[in-house]
Amino acid sequence: MKKLSDWEKKTGIDFLKKIGIKKSYKVLDFGCNNGNYTIPISTLVEKGGIVFAIDENKSALNELQKKSKLIKSDNIKIIHTNGELYYNIADDFFDFVMFYDVLHYLKLQQRTILYKEIFRVLKSNAILSVHPKHIIGNFPLNELQNVKLDELISEIEDVGFKYNEKICSELSHDNHLENGCIINFVKQY
Ligand SMILES: C[S@@+](CC[C@H](N)C(=O)[O-])C[C@H]1O[C@@H](n2cnc3c(N)ncnc32)[C@H](O)[C@@H]1O
Repeated sequence: MKKLSDWEKKTGIDFLKKIGIKKSYKVLDFGCNNGNYTIPISTLVEKGGIVFAIDENKSALNELQKKSKLIKSDNIKIIHTNGELYYNIADDFFDFVMFYDVLHYLKLQQRTILYKEIFRVLKSNAILSVHPKHIIGNFPLNELQNVKLDELISEIEDVGFKYNEKICSELSHDNHLENGCIINFVKQY
């Protein structure tokens, strides 16, 4: 069986290119946990780029810190929060933001605050990428258990994003590999 560490070095990087991440990009990985996406993003954006890795789980971030030292990465900015959804980050800062397997932690009101904050910190025409795990039909759980994919797309479009595409691939989920789909939105002015 293919290992996650191999995915992080090859298939994961190919996937991240396919969803739109490029060399030198400034990326935000919101709800990064132990960094199964943060690590390959760090490799892909190289020295000229940076990945902000935000999570409220300190022990997961400690694990990410160890992994980043192992690969001698110097472009990961680890940010431990108390779950707040407003950030001290300039407007139009990021080239790419991802919400992977995280929205089910947030109530609609919190999700809306987050979408608006991310709309503010993303550059114009930049991408918000979402792994919509735990909606109806995809192991429904917590705050997304009664939400359909088209409803999730609508709530994100309601703050100004435009749904762009769905991309299916082998994904990392809860420290294993599985087939799944992500959805990309564009910040359009
Ligand atoms: C299931 S993990 C997903 C990890 C990673 N994105 C992935 O797809 O492999 C969800 C993470 O989101 C974090 N999280 C949930 N709500 C958060 C919030 N309000 N602020 C920061 N992190 C949050 C949790 O601590 C957890 O580590």
